[in-house]
Amino acid sequence: EEASNMSSEQTFIAIKPDGVQRGLVGPIITRFEQRGYKLVAMKLVSPSKEHLEKHYEDLADKPFYKGLVTYMLSGPICAMVWEGREAVKTGRTLLGATNPMASAPGTIRGDYAIDVGRNVCHGSDAVESAKKEIDLWFKKEELMSYKPANFDWIY
Ligand code: TYD
Repeated sequence: EEASNMSSEQTFIAIKPDGVQRGLVGPIITRFEQRGYKLVAMKLVSPSKEHLEKHYEDLADKPFYKGLVTYMLSGPICAMVWEGREAVKTGRTLLGATNPMASAPGTIRGDYAIDVGRNVCHGSDAVESAKKEIDLWFKKEELMSYKPANFDWIY
Protein backbone atom coordinates (compact mmCIF):
# COMPACT_ATOMS: atom_id res chain seq x y z
CA GLU A 1 0.00 0.00 0.00
CA GLU A 2 0.99 3.61 -0.43
CA ALA A 3 2.99 5.29 2.29
CA SER A 4 0.32 8.00 2.55
CA ASN A 5 -2.15 5.42 3.82
CA MET A 6 0.23 3.95 6.38
CA SER A 7 0.83 6.78 8.77
CA SER A 8 -1.88 9.26 8.00
CA GLU A 9 -3.11 9.63 11.59
CA GLN A 10 -1.82 9.91 15.12
CA THR A 11 -3.95 9.50 18.24
CA PHE A 12 -3.38 10.20 21.91
CA ILE A 13 -3.99 7.15 24.10
CA ALA A 14 -3.56 7.24 27.88
CA ILE A 15 -3.72 4.50 30.46
CA LYS A 16 -5.45 6.12 33.43
CA PRO A 17 -4.26 5.70 37.06
CA ASP A 18 -6.47 2.61 37.64
CA GLY A 19 -5.06 0.93 34.53
CA VAL A 20 -1.48 1.58 35.63
CA GLN A 21 -2.15 0.42 39.23
CA ARG A 22 -3.89 -2.74 37.98
CA GLY A 23 -0.95 -3.75 35.80
CA LEU A 24 -2.77 -3.20 32.52
CA VAL A 25 -0.07 -1.19 30.77
CA GLY A 26 1.31 -4.28 29.03
CA PRO A 27 -2.02 -5.76 27.88
CA ILE A 28 -3.21 -2.40 26.53
CA ILE A 29 0.01 -1.71 24.63
CA THR A 30 -0.11 -5.26 23.25
CA ARG A 31 -3.55 -4.68 21.70
CA PHE A 32 -2.34 -1.64 19.76
CA GLU A 33 0.88 -3.37 18.72
CA GLN A 34 -0.89 -6.54 17.64
CA ARG A 35 -3.43 -4.61 15.58
CA GLY A 36 -0.53 -3.10 13.66
CA TYR A 37 -0.25 0.40 15.09
CA LYS A 38 3.09 2.08 15.63
CA LEU A 39 4.11 3.48 19.01
CA VAL A 40 5.57 6.92 18.40
CA ALA A 41 5.71 8.31 21.96
CA MET A 42 5.28 7.00 25.49
CA LYS A 43 5.93 8.20 29.05
CA LEU A 44 4.72 7.61 32.61
CA VAL A 45 3.64 10.96 34.03
CA SER A 46 1.92 12.57 37.01
CA PRO A 47 0.41 15.68 35.46
CA SER A 48 -0.70 18.71 37.50
CA LYS A 49 -4.35 19.52 38.24
CA GLU A 50 -4.05 22.43 35.80
CA HIS A 51 -2.81 20.09 33.05
CA LEU A 52 -5.72 17.68 33.58
CA GLU A 53 -8.22 20.54 33.71
CA LYS A 54 -6.88 21.67 30.34
CA HIS A 55 -7.10 18.12 28.97
CA TYR A 56 -10.75 17.88 30.03
CA GLU A 57 -11.68 21.56 29.54
CA ASP A 58 -14.64 20.70 27.28
CA LEU A 59 -16.22 18.79 30.21
CA ALA A 60 -15.79 21.58 32.80
CA ASP A 61 -19.54 22.05 33.31
CA LYS A 62 -20.37 18.32 33.64
CA PRO A 63 -21.40 17.00 37.07
CA PHE A 64 -18.67 14.32 36.94
CA TYR A 65 -15.87 16.77 36.06
CA LYS A 66 -14.50 17.32 39.58
CA GLY A 67 -14.45 13.60 40.36
CA LEU A 68 -12.89 12.91 36.98
CA VAL A 69 -9.98 15.28 37.64
CA THR A 70 -9.49 13.85 41.17
CA TYR A 71 -9.43 10.32 39.72
CA MET A 72 -6.92 11.34 37.07
CA LEU A 73 -4.71 12.83 39.82
CA SER A 74 -4.77 9.61 41.87
CA GLY A 75 -1.61 8.07 40.36
CA PRO A 76 0.71 8.02 37.39
CA ILE A 77 -0.70 7.94 33.86
CA CYS A 78 0.88 6.19 30.87
CA ALA A 79 0.66 8.69 28.01
CA MET A 80 1.17 7.44 24.46
CA VAL A 81 0.88 8.40 20.83
CA TRP A 82 -0.07 5.67 18.34
CA GLU A 83 0.11 6.06 14.59
CA GLY A 84 -1.38 4.31 11.60
CA ARG A 85 -4.36 4.17 9.29
CA GLU A 86 -7.47 5.66 10.95
CA ALA A 87 -5.67 5.49 14.30
CA VAL A 88 -8.17 7.82 16.00
CA LYS A 89 -11.35 5.94 15.10
CA THR A 90 -9.85 2.47 15.44
CA GLY A 91 -8.19 3.49 18.69
CA ARG A 92 -11.64 4.29 20.11
CA THR A 93 -12.90 0.95 18.83
CA LEU A 94 -10.08 -0.88 20.62
CA LEU A 95 -10.90 1.04 23.84
CA GLY A 96 -14.66 0.38 23.73
CA ALA A 97 -17.53 2.64 24.81
CA THR A 98 -17.07 5.36 27.45
CA ASN A 99 -19.30 3.39 29.82
CA PRO A 100 -17.68 -0.04 30.26
CA MET A 101 -21.10 -1.63 30.77
CA ALA A 102 -21.82 -0.73 27.13
CA SER A 103 -18.42 -1.97 25.91
CA ALA A 104 -18.32 -5.25 24.03
CA PRO A 105 -16.11 -8.07 25.30
CA GLY A 106 -12.92 -7.97 23.26
CA THR A 107 -12.52 -4.24 23.79
CA ILE A 108 -10.20 -2.95 26.51
CA ARG A 109 -12.99 -1.52 28.65
CA GLY A 110 -15.26 -4.46 27.84
CA ASP A 111 -12.60 -6.83 29.15
CA TYR A 112 -11.16 -4.86 32.06
CA ALA A 113 -13.70 -2.36 33.42
CA ILE A 114 -17.14 -2.03 35.00
CA ASP A 115 -17.51 1.58 36.17
CA VAL A 116 -17.57 4.66 33.90
CA GLY A 117 -15.56 6.53 36.52
CA ARG A 118 -12.84 3.85 36.44
CA ASN A 119 -12.69 3.10 32.74
CA VAL A 120 -8.94 2.41 32.54
CA CYS A 121 -8.03 4.32 29.39
CA HIS A 122 -8.44 7.45 27.29
CA GLY A 123 -8.41 7.86 23.53
CA SER A 124 -8.82 10.98 21.38
CA ASP A 125 -12.31 11.24 19.89
CA ALA A 126 -11.41 13.09 16.67
CA VAL A 127 -8.38 13.97 14.55
CA GLU A 128 -8.56 17.59 15.70
CA SER A 129 -8.71 16.73 19.41
CA ALA A 130 -5.89 14.20 18.89
CA LYS A 131 -3.69 17.03 17.59
CA LYS A 132 -4.58 19.22 20.59
CA GLU A 133 -4.00 16.40 23.08
CA ILE A 134 -0.68 15.30 21.56
CA ASP A 135 0.42 18.92 21.70
CA LEU A 136 -0.67 19.21 25.35
CA TRP A 137 0.99 16.00 26.55
CA PHE A 138 4.14 15.79 24.42
CA LYS A 139 6.97 17.97 23.20
CA LYS A 140 7.75 17.74 19.47
CA GLU A 141 11.08 15.99 20.16
CA GLU A 142 9.32 13.24 22.16
CA LEU A 143 7.57 11.98 19.00
CA MET A 144 9.71 9.35 17.29
CA SER A 145 10.00 8.79 13.56
CA TYR A 146 10.90 5.29 12.38
CA LYS A 147 9.69 2.52 10.12
CA PRO A 148 8.74 -0.68 11.97
CA ALA A 149 10.15 -3.85 10.42
CA ASN A 150 6.67 -5.39 10.08
CA PHE A 151 5.10 -2.51 8.12
CA ASP A 152 5.53 -4.09 4.70
CA TRP A 153 3.33 -6.95 5.96
CA ILE A 154 0.70 -4.80 7.67
CA TYR A 155 0.09 -2.39 4.76
P1 TYD B 1 -15.99 11.66 27.64
O1 TYD B 1 -15.00 12.59 26.99
O2 TYD B 1 -17.43 11.91 27.44
O3 TYD B 1 -15.71 10.13 27.20
P2 TYD B 1 -14.43 9.43 26.55
O4 TYD B 1 -13.38 9.30 27.62
O5 TYD B 1 -14.90 8.09 26.08
O6 TYD B 1 -13.98 10.31 25.43
O7 TYD B 1 -15.72 11.64 29.21
C1 TYD B 1 -14.42 11.68 29.72
C2 TYD B 1 -14.34 10.76 30.90
O8 TYD B 1 -15.22 11.22 31.91
C3 TYD B 1 -14.78 9.33 30.64
O9 TYD B 1 -13.76 8.54 30.07
C4 TYD B 1 -15.15 8.87 32.01
C5 TYD B 1 -15.69 10.13 32.69
N1 TYD B 1 -17.15 10.13 32.73
C6 TYD B 1 -17.77 9.89 33.94
O10 TYD B 1 -17.13 9.68 34.98
N2 TYD B 1 -19.15 9.90 33.98
C7 TYD B 1 -19.90 10.09 32.87
O11 TYD B 1 -21.15 10.09 32.96
C8 TYD B 1 -19.24 10.32 31.62
C9 TYD B 1 -20.03 10.57 30.35
C10 TYD B 1 -17.87 10.35 31.60
